[in-house]
Amino acid sequence: TMARQHSRPRWHYSPLQTWMNDPNGLIHYAGTWHLFYQSNPSDDRWGNMSWGHATSPDLLTWTEHHVALWHTDSEEIFSGSCVFDATNSSDLGTADWPPLVAIYTANYRPGSERHGTQAQCLAYSLDGGSHWTNYSGNPVLDRGSANFRDPKVFRHGDAWVMVAVEAENQQVVIYRSTNLVDWTYCSTFGPAHAAAGVWECPDLFELPVAGHDETRWVLLVNVNPGGVAGGSGCQYFVGDFDGHTFTPDRVIATSTDRDLGLDDPLLRSYDWFDYGRDCYAVVSFADAPGGRRIVLGWMNNWDYAADVPLTGGRSIMTIPRELDLVLLDDGYRVRQRPVRELPVDALQHHALAAGDRVVINGVALEYHNGVLSLDRRGVGMNDFHEAFGSRQWAEVPGEPETVHVDVLVDTCSIEVFAAGGLVTISDLVFF
Ligand code: FRU
Repeated sequence: TMARQHSRPRWHYSPLQTWMNDPNGLIHYAGTWHLFYQSNPSDDRWGNMSWGHATSPDLLTWTEHHVALWHTDSEEIFSGSCVFDATNSSDLGTADWPPLVAIYTANYRPGSERHGTQAQCLAYSLDGGSHWTNYSGNPVLDRGSANFRDPKVFRHGDAWVMVAVEAENQQVVIYRSTNLVDWTYCSTFGPAHAAAGVWECPDLFELPVAGHDETRWVLLVNVNPGGVAGGSGCQYFVGDFDGHTFTPDRVIATSTDRDLGLDDPLLRSYDWFDYGRDCYAVVSFADAPGGRRIVLGWMNNWDYAADVPLTGGRSIMTIPRELDLVLLDDGYRVRQRPVRELPVDALQHHALAAGDRVVINGVALEYHNGVLSLDRRGVGMNDFHEAFGSRQWAEVPGEPETVHVDVLVDTCSIEVFAAGGLVTISDLVFF
């Protein structure tokens, strides 16, 4: 039996027994939020990758279901997305009974003639995501590449758009389709900015700009290693998308240097989604009602994920966050808030003037010279891996005299939303 060293989080999704990494196939469908995820159905370590499944009425209370997509002798089911094919464009359902379609990466195993490659495949469900059937013509998109993965598909006008990665080339590749089966190449973005590690789990969506009658496109690119806090991290680009090509507003020097220090000005000048150690594989929900853009990340870091002291269900997702953009002096910045479904009293509020420091369950939060830092060194269980004890920091835009922070502490995690959500720092802490 697997003994759990830490109790279950209250607000965050965590599987009961098994290993979990990336969120996959996030979709709101028929009044229910669906969270699929990279799962090893038979262990609390990475392997046998399959899609686990949980659903929620409110993004906070989750029910775990049986495995949705199982690995086979010939393939593992790597990350991907789900769409509701309302017009049955794929012909995998009927006009009256349109399908949910999962677009995932097959990671071919030694038993397969395709071993050594990764390609994109479809599965469909006609019962609202409970049971899935593999499409008989899989794979639907194969470049003969060893590292072509993590398709995120969304509706754009009357076509489907896929963003995926050539992970080892630090590139996002964009394809279009009218039926989810036949895909046409459009363009490639990258390498750009943080490019020391692999690029994984991209997402591309439009966001409103607060207080302005305009929208911009945001491309999320998860990178590992080479994140701003070390190891896994998520960077983003704000720009324009014409249905075929993503054009960023600004591109500064690209860095492929694996030894770049975490305080290197170049690394610091990129746009980072989160400045903590534990926010990776960030992707958004399809079809969120009311035009909301809600994302989840895997709250962990490949630097030490296999060793975190959670046995049984390992590990947890971040709190779901709702996004928009804010126009600052030097360009647009993504703003994040915990979803409004989270009761306000779940958050603690602090106001930090320059030089102030608060200690939250042993974790030090400090505001000094316009920099907000979080120090989890020496707090709780932390010696299970040498890379875990760490201090993270972010410059607060505009260096306000006082920075307001909302903090969510939940069993084995802390998430800091500072300056109205312009800066977030998300860390596991085994209090
Ligand atoms: C990101 C990732 C993806 C891949 C999956 C495999 O954490 O490496 O690129 O699809 O995990 O589990």
